[in-house]
This record gives sequence, structure tokens and C-alpha cells, in this order.
Amino acid sequence: MRITLLSAFSIIIVLVFACKSRTKENKDTGSAKFDNIPGRKWWKEAIVYQLYPRSFKDSDGDGIGDLQGIISKLDYLKSLGIDAVWLNPIYSSPNDDNGYDVSDYQNIMKDFGTMEDFDALLKGLHERNIKLVMDLVVNHSSDEHEWFKQSRSSRTSPYRNYYHWWNAERGKPAPRYSLFDVNHDAWMYDSTTNAYYLHYFSRKQPDLNWENPQLRKEVYDIMKFWADKGIDGFRLDAFQFVSKDTTFPAFPKNYEKNFILYYAMGKNLHSYLKEMNQEVFSKYDMMSVAEGAGNSFEDAHNLVDADRKELDMAYAFEGVDLGNPKGYDLLQFKEVYSRWDSAFAEKGWLSMFLANHDQARMVSRFGNDDPAFRDASAKMLNTFILTMRGTPYCYNGDELAMTNIGFDKIEDYRDVPTLNEYQYQKKTGGNMQDFMEKIKNNCRDNGRTPFQWDATANAGFSAGTPWIKINPNYTSLNAAAQEKDTNSVLNYFRSIVQLRKENPVLIHGKYTLLDKDNPKVYAYTRELNGEKWIVLLNFSKDVVVFNFNKYISTDKSLILSNYSNAPKTAGASVSLQPYQAVIYDLKQ
Ligand code: NOJ
Repeated sequence: MRITLLSAFSIIIVLVFACKSRTKENKDTGSAKFDNIPGRKWWKEAIVYQLYPRSFKDSDGDGIGDLQGIISKLDYLKSLGIDAVWLNPIYSSPNDDNGYDVSDYQNIMKDFGTMEDFDALLKGLHERNIKLVMDLVVNHSSDEHEWFKQSRSSRTSPYRNYYHWWNAERGKPAPRYSLFDVNHDAWMYDSTTNAYYLHYFSRKQPDLNWENPQLRKEVYDIMKFWADKGIDGFRLDAFQFVSKDTTFPAFPKNYEKNFILYYAMGKNLHSYLKEMNQEVFSKYDMMSVAEGAGNSFEDAHNLVDADRKELDMAYAFEGVDLGNPKGYDLLQFKEVYSRWDSAFAEKGWLSMFLANHDQARMVSRFGNDDPAFRDASAKMLNTFILTMRGTPYCYNGDELAMTNIGFDKIEDYRDVPTLNEYQYQKKTGGNMQDFMEKIKNNCRDNGRTPFQWDATANAGFSAGTPWIKINPNYTSLNAAAQEKDTNSVLNYFRSIVQLRKENPVLIHGKYTLLDKDNPKVYAYTRELNGEKWIVLLNFSKDVVVFNFNKYISTDKSLILSNYSNAPKTAGASVSLQPYQAVIYDLKQ
């Protein structure tokens, strides 16, 4: 046993050393590799880390993450090698929807700190060469925003047209489905002026009226306020929904089953984006990405093709929507990602992600969170995100393989749509057992439990009582433990980040799917300027043999694997361990 352990250890050392020297070699030649690549942009080559501030690090013991907490972890962010942070909303908010209900766009939420803290955070990030992308939530505001307070106060208020109102003497407007409302009704009656207001999300998130040029100007001014502070980009929340037919015609029966078809890509959306681009984006070196990409490739291209001067990159959900802790079809997964890649191969640019703050945890949905397979599958999934074309978005905690918490009791949930849907199901006689099972697996609170820093009380997240429970597996699954382990998910994440940054073949290279009918292995090549790499990802818990014969005849030399004993070269076939990821250079 001792001998086995010892030899395993020496293999790790040899591989780490081999990886290190390759990294160095690439670094030395790195800049030349990037020469003569057309269409280069920093945001194409950046690796974005999505940081959920409420759950990242609490500095003052109130149980809520904050800006000083993030500041205290800047060196950790730097150590990951990421290039940009996308910060979920930090503006003043009564927190009906964790900051996606903004009551003042030019101030910082009290729970998170002050504007001085923000300035220090931005400075600290920039000193470390990390860019900052802010969330811009302007499909709706909070009902506690001054605009809405004024708007609801009288029908003649100058702010009345900042929102969508329907006077009640006209009868009830045609139904609109609300994603978050306790009755699914997006029209809320307000007795002050005897009128209904529209809210696609919760009642405390009234939709802004983008048809009003005054409102649009306010938004551009807000964007310029942040841009002038030096931020590097915006992620536009729910933006595909902003343009509405304000006559509010009736939609066909059951439209809510595919509401995006009816809500997204309203007829003025592109003119608003062009205006925004001209007023704001064109004046700064910023990246722009909107949540959602419409209903077709054409919609997605129309949002991001450079010659249209609207947004920079598309953030489409078809792939991430396949995730399911109960299993999903790898063939479909491959088909979706390959179809999107090919639609964007010549024009436009995509975001690559398998998680965000609206999803359950990546390893629980797409990998295997059983401790026996958790680390290997998380490393494999991170390999996928970081070796595909498109800008990778890595969600905080996925670099550690944080897992779903899977609450059993409704009292543990914090998420507003989940709590409202619970009420709705109860009221309408829904099957509560099924509902509880569903949210246990899928509720976005799974992805919002506090970051697991170490094995001390509250995972080192807070000295107080956390706003949401911490996953009890923090005692073994935490950043401090993984720092010490050369073989950890965290350290593997760092190596794959580094590999991508130094090798444009992984960023800009042509993607080709191989062996598309293989139900367990996702295999693809990336090719650029005479260089060709193959990525093999075993998405199953079985050992599988991948046969190169049909596809590759050249030598294959190992670049990186999530298993320390992967052979340095491969012959006609390779045996892949459960959830093994392996990248070979196909010497031409
Ligand atoms: C999408 C955001 O990602 C989500 O967290 C939020 O609840 C809704 N938009 C409403 O703003």
C-alpha cells in the first residue's frame, strides 16, 4: 500500500512538473501565438468569473456577503487567473429578488457597503488586471425606486410613463404571465390611481417603459455614471423583454408555455440597443452581453454581429437548460453546443457557461456530486467550459466543485419565485411532494449558498448567521483544503485557465465534433494556424475506450488531464476513467 501511494505521489509530481514546464514554454512564446489572429478583442480572450456578492464573503458579521469581503479576497481572485469579474447587482435595493429590484441605480446596497468600498474594489481589481462587469437591471426597477413612487402617485405625474399602466376603467388588460407572481398574474392593481401596472417578475419589480425616450435617457446616464468610474462592461438583465407592444394585445391561449416567443425581441429592441451602443458602449472600451438571445440564431446574430453595433456577445440558454441532476442526454448536449458553435463560427461571439446564480450547481446538474465522482466530474466540466470557443463564464464555487444543498423544508428557501410558487401550488391543489422534490434539485438557492472558504464555523464566510444555510459538506469541501492539495479541483481549475490564456487555439480555434453518436464521450478538436488539439471528455462514470482510428492518425501527446496518471502519449485508442478529461496535442 505504501509503495502504491508513493508511486502515485511521484506520478503527480512528474505530471505537475511536466505541466509547469509546458506552461512556461507557452508563456515564452505566448504573444507570438496570438499574432495574426483576426478579430481579436479582450472580451473574447477573457475568462469571466461570476461573483454572487451576497454569498461570497461577509466582512462585518451580518451574515451577508459584502464589498469589503470581496476586497479581502482579491488575491484569491487573482490567483485563479481569471480576467474579469461579473458582479451580480450591488445597487440599493429592498432585496425582494436579491438586488434584481433596484431602488437607486447610483448607490450601493446598505448590506454591501458604500460607494467608497465600491471604488476601492474597482481599484483593487484593476491593480490586479481584472476587469469589472456590472449587472444592469433595467427591464424593471424596484417599486421602491423614486421613479415608481412618483409614477404611482398620480396619473399626471411626469414619471407616469416610466412604467406600464392600464387604467382600470378600460377593464382588465389582456393577460400577461408573471414569472415570479404568486398568482402568475403580471398585472397588479393599484388603488391609488385605479390602474394596473405591469410586472413580468415580482410585484415589487414593475417593468420600465422603454418606449419613453426620457426613461431611456435616464438609463444611459446611469450607465455613463458607472462607465466614467472605469468599469469594463455591462451584463443586461432580462433585456430581451424590454420592448413591448404597449397596446397589450391578447396572446394566443397557452402562450405562457413559451412566453419567450411572445415576450422577447419586441419590435423596438434593436433600435434601443443601437441607441444604447451609440450613447454609451461606443464611447468606452467596454464589453456588453445581454441575458438571453431570443428564439433563433437569427435573433442571436441580430443582437451581436459586430457590423450591427449593438452588443458584443450572446448569452444563450439552450445548452444550460439541458442540465438535470436526474440525468440528461449527452447526444443532445453535444448537438446543441455544436449547433451553436457552427452558427457562430464565422460571425458573432458566444458566452460559454454551465451555471450561474439562477441555476442549481453545475456539478450536481451536469456532473456527478457523489463524493466518489464529484471532483473528477467538476474538473471535466471546467475543462469543457474552458476549451470551447466563446467566452467562458465560470460561476463562483464551481472552481471548488460546490454542490447542491437540496433543502427539504420550505423554511430554508430564500428565493422569491420559489416561495411564491409554493403558495400558488398550495392554493391550487398542486402535488406538494412533487413540488418539493423539484425545487430540491432545481431551485436556484442551490447555487447561492455561501462560498466555502475553509472548515471553520460558517465555512469562513461570516462570523454571524448566514442569510441562507451553508452546505454542510464545507468541512471537507472548501478552498483552504484545496489550496494545499496539488490535485484539487481548484488547482486543476487554475491549470486549465492558464492553458486557455496561453493558447489561442482554445480561444479562436476551429471546433469540430468527433464521434457524435458516442453516448458517453464528448470528443472535439480545436485547430488554429497549424496547431490541432483534441479534447476528450468522458461524461459517464464508466471506464470507456475511445478509439482514434477513424478520426486521428497523428501522434498524440498529452497536454493536460484531470487524472494524474494519464499516459503521456496515446496510440490507436485510449482508455478513459470515469469523468476523465484529456487534452492531446495532435502533432501535425
Ligand atoms: C434574471 C436574473 O438573472 C435573475 O436572477 C432575476 O431574478 C431576474 N432576471 C429578474 O431580474
